[in-house]
Amino acid sequence: MSVLDPTRVCALGEVERAASLLSNGGLVAFPTETVYGLGASARDRGALRRIFTVKGRPPDHPLIVHIAASHQLLAWASYIPDAARRLADAFWPGPLTLILPKAPGVPDEVTGGASTVGVRVPAHPVAQALLRNFGDGIAAPSANLYGRVSPTRARHVADALGDSVDLILDGGTCEIGLESTIIDLSDGTARLLRPGAITRAMLEHVLGSPISLENPQGTPAPGQKPSHYAPKARVVLAAAEQAEATAARLAAQGCRVGHLAVAPSHHPGVWWLPLSLTLDQQAANLYQRLHEADALQLDMVVASLPRGHGIAEAIADRLSRAAERGDWH
Ligand code: TXA
Ligand code: MG
Repeated sequence: MSVLDPTRVCALGEVERAASLLSNGGLVAFPTETVYGLGASARDRGALRRIFTVKGRPPDHPLIVHIAASHQLLAWASYIPDAARRLADAFWPGPLTLILPKAPGVPDEVTGGASTVGVRVPAHPVAQALLRNFGDGIAAPSANLYGRVSPTRARHVADALGDSVDLILDGGTCEIGLESTIIDLSDGTARLLRPGAITRAMLEHVLGSPISLENPQGTPAPGQKPSHYAPKARVVLAAAEQAEATAARLAAQGCRVGHLAVAPSHHPGVWWLPLSLTLDQQAANLYQRLHEADALQLDMVVASLPRGHGIAEAIADRLSRAAERGDWH
């Protein structure tokens, strides 16, 4: 494994080396505008299986296929509904994943054995350069250990996965910082499976109709179980007015506790995990703060859910999932 100098965006030679590694069954971590992905050729079953081993991820959790441009979509999806075409035209390249009926021959390792496939065209220039150089689909989950916080910097990937990755392309800090919005269009109804930077309102504007937020089967989509975004510290949710007092009380009980907040804590026993003022910046920095909480070996992180729609929905979704885990290691 090699990690490039984090102060510079990777050189073209490194991208060529990465593409060649992928062609030979290698695993390459690469930046996207959302989070870093752990990539393998989406046609190489052995390499795909390695992803699951390295992440410690259950084999039935499907992977997103990343492609360079929407003209490659039919290599992965058997059918492109009009709604999917319009969303792709509006938001690709960008942080949106479409769930569509899978094309014949897409490996079960990608789909988790399902009849659908998730596809997205990332916008990050390094991801684009890698995809164009490789010329085919790259399957990539977030480049973290299963159940842990997604990486938004190359350093997070190196710390979590180390030598089990063949190469980490460093493209700096991910601009959006939360995983892509996922919309399922595979069965005629649009369903939002994961909120993200492409907001429900943006999707509804393009589609011209409301989008349901629930999963009609009542079961979470694979990989959408609550614990999916948890730091080692237990995340405790509190109303904004009570969060500081909650953190102080936990500190008084002897916990190493952090407070995720815009304003610094007044209590000396509480670690302040600073949040930016704007919601976009809060989204961009959230995972960095949770990685810091892990580095500080905090037992607990007190946080408040942002109110409102848009990116607030995605932040609230990830914080709620982290909080629902209930155990603390
Ligand atoms: O922003 C992102 O989407 C990042 C970057 C690397 O692209 N990737 C990412 O991958 O977050 P991952 O594996 O951590 O989360 C992808 C989720 C899966 O957990 C699963 O819930 C959903 O996408 N997914 C993928 N294929 C699916 C399918 N066929 N049906 C339902 N859900 C699917
Ligand atoms: Mg993930």
